[in-house]
Amino acid sequence: MVEPPLVTHLLFARLRVPDPEEAATFYERVLGLVRVGSDDSSVRLSVAPRDAVVVSSGDIVLERGAEPGLSGLGFAVSTTTELAAAAGAVAERTDGAPPGAGTVSFLDPDGCEVEIRVPDAPVRRPPVVPSFTFTKLGHVTRRSPDPGRQARWWQETLGFRVSDQIEDSFFFLRCNRDHHALAFVEGASPGAHHVGLELETWDDLRLVVDRLVEHGAPIEFGPGRHGPGKNIFVYVVDPWGIRWELFCELERIDDDRATGHWQGGRRETVNLWGPRPPETYFE
Ligand SMILES: [Fe+2]
Repeated sequence: MVEPPLVTHLLFARLRVPDPEEAATFYERVLGLVRVGSDDSSVRLSVAPRDAVVVSSGDIVLERGAEPGLSGLGFAVSTTTELAAAAGAVAERTDGAPPGAGTVSFLDPDGCEVEIRVPDAPVRRPPVVPSFTFTKLGHVTRRSPDPGRQARWWQETLGFRVSDQIEDSFFFLRCNRDHHALAFVEGASPGAHHVGLELETWDDLRLVVDRLVEHGAPIEFGPGRHGPGKNIFVYVVDPWGIRWELFCELERIDDDRATGHWQGGRRETVNLWGPRPPETYFE
């Protein structure tokens, strides 16, 4: 029997923006995210289902920084025993400082700050007007000069599995039944390609896109259906240059499925419905 991955799911993405308050207001109004907390230098937003009574204590953490982009990722374990196992696995594979109490912190081979922890208890949903039926923060896709090395490290250290790969340039990794929580695509320098938010249905996706367009945030690419993952997608780039994927119908995978190998490169597999993305999408 194959051992399950050491983490259960993607817990949060930390994003750098020049003014977290300004960005939070945009994400609340336009993307329908829910503010669940803030301090002097950061704002926490939840990707909340429409009818949720309680929500996460922060799926998107906005931090102050001159250069907008991804500043870190969090993954969850369900018990302190699993946290200790993750700490041991990470300590064997990194030169970093020993993990602190309650959180395993480290840099992966591309220098991304990663934290593993048992999630905080959910919080009561603030009294906001319900918007869309988000399911959750779905995944983060990162550019990497060596995506194969990244994929191997996350497999060997934390037990992730490669659901699909496009030649040797794009790897989709899962830590549960979702097709991917993390993906690596070849790129000149490390960083985020996009942050993926999952919606329950195609109808919810339609409502989000209506809202985005209404607020002057046009679509960069989509709607379409990906080859790897089979999800229906729409991509938008926000005023800070951060790309978001809104998606639904992502493939769920049983543990014994072999890695899928796709040929023909990103341009041939990115959209089964036909139209190809603009060149900005490949930057
Ligand atoms: Fe994606």
